[in-house]
Amino acid sequence: MLTVHGVGKRYGNARVLEGLDLEFGKGVYGLLAPNGAGKTTLLKLLAGLLPPTEGEILYEGQPLAVLDERYRLILGYLPQRFGYYPNDTPLKYMQYLAAIKGMDRRKALSRSEELLDLVALGEVKHKKMKTFSGGMIQRVGIAQALLNDPRVLILDEPTAGLDPKERARFRSLLTQLGRQRTVILSTHVVSDVESAANEIVMLQGGKLWVKDHPEAICKLLAGRVYEAQLTDTEIEDFRTRYVLLGERSEPGGWKLRFAVEDGTVPADSWQGVEPGLEDVFLYVYRDRQPGNVPSGTIWGDEVRL
Ligand SMILES: Nc1ncnc2c1ncn2[C@@H]1O[C@H](COP(=O)(O)OP(=O)(O)OP(=O)(O)O)[C@@H](O)[C@H]1O
Ligand SMILES: [Mg+2]
Repeated sequence: MLTVHGVGKRYGNARVLEGLDLEFGKGVYGLLAPNGAGKTTLLKLLAGLLPPTEGEILYEGQPLAVLDERYRLILGYLPQRFGYYPNDTPLKYMQYLAAIKGMDRRKALSRSEELLDLVALGEVKHKKMKTFSGGMIQRVGIAQALLNDPRVLILDEPTAGLDPKERARFRSLLTQLGRQRTVILSTHVVSDVESAANEIVMLQGGKLWVKDHPEAICKLLAGRVYEAQLTDTEIEDFRTRYVLLGERSEPGGWKLRFAVEDGTVPADSWQGVEPGLEDVFLYVYRDRQPGNVPSGTIWGDEVRL
């Protein structure tokens, strides 16, 4: 169990995270927030790579700072940007990292091969990485994070650069990995975590906004998401009155998906739809304009939108 107690982080005078209390047990946790929200900062804190400015992080009741090397032995970490030598092959790179982690040579070779097969790079394990696509490099990154069969696996935007087929494979890998360990990954791609994560963590203004099952988070917008067919002239009015969640052009106009304020009486022509996680994401992190409906707020323990 990884426990975050009253954690805050400042870079100089700039406060990035504030008053975070979180618990991570076995399973897959998706950290979902827009660019610059503090995802990488939080993951580095959880990986023990950055010290918090306030509060503390514990693994099985012991502060990370005290565990130090012992925590690194059970941790797998994929940084948002990771360094490698372009002339290395993935197999050589994995073996090099395994040596740094103190694995014996024979074990390092078999484990590296097994993991490269797992991320479908077995056939190119002897090719230089400079010939790889961004998605292939990312898969090497995922494989190296698994070298020590970590109890805690932290992945910073692991799906960046993966094509839809690779994303699907990654989602099933996540589910598999989350059965036996704590997996925490960041993303701003909602579909990466909507089905694969047991819980979603969302940050708002440096604070925890919500940590819950995806279905429970979607329910926050229940009864407030609609679709309607509109003409060009109607659309502008909708833009200012409601929060736009999607639009596509249709013959004779537009099909709009939007969220309304609680208590709004729908027009007959609107069709109510089930909110998805993407709707909640777009709603919570929309551009705030004067007159827009208020943002998600936390009232005691209760989260409301
Ligand atoms: N080393 C640093 N020194 C100063 N400010 C930093 C540092 N690292 C991050 N920041 C700032 O902290 C904030 C959060 O950054 P962070 O990288 O944690 O966000 P993120 O959610 O991971 O963003 P992205 O989606 O772009 O990866 C940003 O405003 C960023 O400019
Ligand atoms: Mg980041």
